[in-house]
Amino acid sequence: MSDSEVGAADRQVLVASNRGPVSFSLSGDGALSMRRGGGGLVSGLAGVAAAGRPGGMGGPEVVWVCAALSDADRMAARQAPDGRLDKAGYDTGGASVRMLDIPAATFQRAYNSVANSTLWFVHHLLYDTPNTPHFDARSRRDWQSYEAYNAAFADALARDAAPGAKTAIQDYHLSLAPRMLRDRRPDLKIVHFSHTPWAPPEYYRLLPDDIGAQVLEGILGADHAGFLTARWADAFLDCCEAVLGARVDRAARTVVHDGHVTRVGVHGLGVDGAELTARAQEPDVVARARALREQVGDRQLIVRIDRTELSKNIVRGLAAYRELLVNHPEWHGRVVHLAFAYPSRHDLPEYREYTAAVQRMAAQITDEFGTPEWEPLILQVNDDYPRSLAAYGMADVLLVNPIRDGMNLVAKEGPVLSERGCALVLSREAGAAAELGEDALTVNPYDVSQTAETLHQALLMPAAERAERCARLTAAATALPPQRWFADQLAALD
Ligand code: G6P
Repeated sequence: MSDSEVGAADRQVLVASNRGPVSFSLSGDGALSMRRGGGGLVSGLAGVAAAGRPGGMGGPEVVWVCAALSDADRMAARQAPDGRLDKAGYDTGGASVRMLDIPAATFQRAYNSVANSTLWFVHHLLYDTPNTPHFDARSRRDWQSYEAYNAAFADALARDAAPGAKTAIQDYHLSLAPRMLRDRRPDLKIVHFSHTPWAPPEYYRLLPDDIGAQVLEGILGADHAGFLTARWADAFLDCCEAVLGARVDRAARTVVHDGHVTRVGVHGLGVDGAELTARAQEPDVVARARALREQVGDRQLIVRIDRTELSKNIVRGLAAYRELLVNHPEWHGRVVHLAFAYPSRHDLPEYREYTAAVQRMAAQITDEFGTPEWEPLILQVNDDYPRSLAAYGMADVLLVNPIRDGMNLVAKEGPVLSERGCALVLSREAGAAAELGEDALTVNPYDVSQTAETLHQALLMPAAERAERCARLTAAATALPPQRWFADQLAALD
């Protein structure tokens, strides 16, 4: 590489993810309006992107390639010069955002059928055999769409990348893209990062053999494969060995396959405590807190906040609350469970059915225990971010009980914002348990009775102990803010 090329590489960072930093909606009169999204990846990049914008601190240019997720997104992508939203005049926070106008049918098959049904289900152990999975001719067609979708990303990245540039490809939607990109541009430095758990080989093997191998080989196209915890990184190494017969060095965390070396690393993701705390002091959050307080009075509060997601285990969580009320009637009238379950992936029938199951369970609890003076459970299914922040502030107990979770940032946001110090009841199967397990009360997510009893212990925990544990949880939760997590991924390429 020449000197000028080395310089070019340092001046640019590329990011690829299914969901980008912005999304569009169409108003009644046909006008497009843009919304900036939140989440760890967006905040991880915000600092890098802002530094690179004209007048910024002189950081690298950030090129962010994402998919158009809706008709409105596709319209915006089509109207933007060369698909570049920043060139169309949208404020993309300093990044150059290229939104890919992937045909709707291809996108639906890649996103819903392969990424969110198949790969997500494998990594979260969600199949309910003997009914699913079932791989047939239709699955093959869906797989071809997943390949086309990944190729669209690889093409865009190959076209936009400066010589030798660092490229960070995110998540299970894009497991083939690293290999495809390396084939097109061997000069680039590529990291792939998995935000999900990784399945153990005996479960991973339920994928059709060629598909299971392609996913692993796709990620191994990267120079570095990042995971949120050692447990998921090690499971990936196990799969590389068991499925591909690749040469794996567990101590060094490297995989050699097809003559290419991939290093595997652990990069934990936490929250930006200062930013979160500042956001929670804004008037919309304060107003929500006041309204919630009026609704629940001075009762103790058990809070949970999730997407309505099968892996979040909401139904068993509600069942545990019900068992608490059955076994410990002394809590009647003295505790309220606030459960916020925001809509997610409703194109998939499993998710629609799950939402209905959550609502049925909630109705049952209200019928069984509710009185004119006491509403034992408040379930909200509409997305309201300021209300979530308000609920964190008021929580006495935070319940986070996923079947499996890559990390789970609710378990980190809650302690940071809780005003009196909350007790955290945390599934041992969440990645966050590796960092927070000592000060959380950990549970087996399938054990409803144990979860109920642990909720009881959490409600009884003396205020001083709760506050001490919560302070340590907060320190752990803020130790790896998104900026640092993202910088770590890039540094692993040096
Ligand atoms: C998980 C995934 C992300 C995804 C998010 C929301 O955290 O790791 O990649 O963006 O869920 O899911 P959605 O399907 O709405 O993008």
